[in-house]
Amino acid sequence: MKSYIVGNWKLNFNVGEASIYLHKLQKKIPNYRDVEVVVAPTALCLQPLSLQIERSKMKLAAQNAFYRDFGAYTGEISFAELAGLVNYAIVGHSERRYIFHEDDKMIAKKVAAAIRNKIRPILCIGETESERSFGETRDVIRDQLLGGLSEVSEEDISKVLIAYEPVWAISSTKDAKPATPDEIAEVVGLIRANLKEIYGAKIAEEVPVLFGGSVKPTNAGAYLTVPGVNGLLIGGASLILEQFTDIIETAKRVKQ
Ligand code: 13P
Repeated sequence: MKSYIVGNWKLNFNVGEASIYLHKLQKKIPNYRDVEVVVAPTALCLQPLSLQIERSKMKLAAQNAFYRDFGAYTGEISFAELAGLVNYAIVGHSERRYIFHEDDKMIAKKVAAAIRNKIRPILCIGETESERSFGETRDVIRDQLLGGLSEVSEEDISKVLIAYEPVWAISSTKDAKPATPDEIAEVVGLIRANLKEIYGAKIAEEVPVLFGGSVKPTNAGAYLTVPGVNGLLIGGASLILEQFTDIIETAKRVKQ
């Protein structure tokens, strides 16, 4: 399986800054066939960057979209509008869940809408610090995974990527603490066990599972070698060209 290195720029870089960054990034990295590099800029950047991106080197992702294709939904952008512009969409990021109150039902509709519009959803799941401390990690992961995938058929599951992002490890969380490879391995094991239960053993092994939360050049190698981890979802470090390219190079080295 390929490695996936996804940069989530969140609400950073305006159109001009994003364009300059993309230009530099494309100059700096070769075309790696076994490392899929993806960047997720703000929605406003997607159209201009889609004209600039060299799709043989990297792909674009949306950070979010609405689940209806069109209609009276003031302020929203649909997956239907993004079709053709992006290959991927991040869905259910913890910032969407906790700041914008998205629940598993809404996230399931977004996952389905992405697939319907030929966009691969990257479904984010992960427990908070307090859920972990109360021993609820297993249940939270199961609920978010089954909830988010509730509208995905066996035929479509191959289009989905899962990202395990423990909220307590995300760099912008207060007192964030990087996860250890053992902590990640345990939860990725749970994710695959749940996938196996719903879709069978073969599919459970084939769904890419990414890790996200305080990923840096210094820990990327260790995280990418955790059994069952197929890539990284990177926030802060993806905004720094040297760090992001360093992580891409690490993914390439780990693949060899
Ligand atoms: P950081 O890499 O800044 O911790 O962000 C992780 C994240 O939320 C990516 O989606």
